[in-house]
Amino acid sequence: MAEDQDTEDTTPLVVITDTAVDPHIVMHHEPRALQAEQYRAFRTNLLAMGRNKGSRSVVLTSGVKGDGKSVSAVNIAICLAEAPGTRVCLVDADFRAPRVAELLGLGGGKGLSELLLEEATLADVLVETRVQNLYVIRSGRPPRNPSELLASERVKNLLDSLKQQFTHILCDTPPVNPFTDAAVLGARADGVVLVVRMNATGREQAERARHVLERAGAHVIGAFLTDASTQDPDAVAEYEDDADE
Ligand SMILES: Nc1ncnc2c1ncn2[C@@H]1O[C@H](COP(=O)(O)OP(=O)(O)O)[C@@H](O)[C@H]1O
Ligand SMILES: [Mg+2]
Repeated sequence: MAEDQDTEDTTPLVVITDTAVDPHIVMHHEPRALQAEQYRAFRTNLLAMGRNKGSRSVVLTSGVKGDGKSVSAVNIAICLAEAPGTRVCLVDADFRAPRVAELLGLGGGKGLSELLLEEATLADVLVETRVQNLYVIRSGRPPRNPSELLASERVKNLLDSLKQQFTHILCDTPPVNPFTDAAVLGARADGVVLVVRMNATGREQAERARHVLERAGAHVIGAFLTDASTQDPDAVAEYEDDADE
């Protein structure tokens, strides 16, 4: 008895942290935090917009780098994968600054570039994650001509075949204002979500990005605001009144 008591008193409090996953991935580390609630609010809108429309491909982009596209893409992907009935594929289509694999602690490997160059098959590059119903396609080795590769007919075929297997395909991309990649890919996807960092890029960069995207034929379905200085969870998700009509 005395021994039991002793054991109990000296048992250390064990806190298990998963250092492989980046601390910014709040959906993994702090699912009860306000930020995680904000991702859920965004997910609710995204699911409502796609209701009865089958599988959806969505490109995430922003005006400039550092707006939080990759962090938001990974959090939104986890959040979507946790909803009932979804199966999500997160594609790292940012050949210029790939971050998805690193944020999820997945390590390197073949990915989108090898797939589009027909050096690998979908089965070769589709990576299971520790989140149930979330799969990732890494960016792969940096190609010489990123925007041309994304303009190829194979991209459309790939999105079509991913739609056979997944309810949602999310693509992380480079910023719109310096590069055409996101506009090219966005025009082939069902919709584009513009990530707007409220206290840095401001609305001006986002507006510019939006014009570029729309000129390219992409359908901007909404905005995801990062660094919003508000406690209102609804404030992170802004949608057009007529979005997805
Ligand atoms: N929601 C956030 N809150 C605070 N800091 C963030 C957030 N999202 C991203 N960051 C910071 O901004 C940096 C850039 O984010 P990242 O997602 O890589 O941007 P992008 O993909 O738009 O270039 C991250 O390394 C992180 O330090
Ligand atoms: Mg990024």
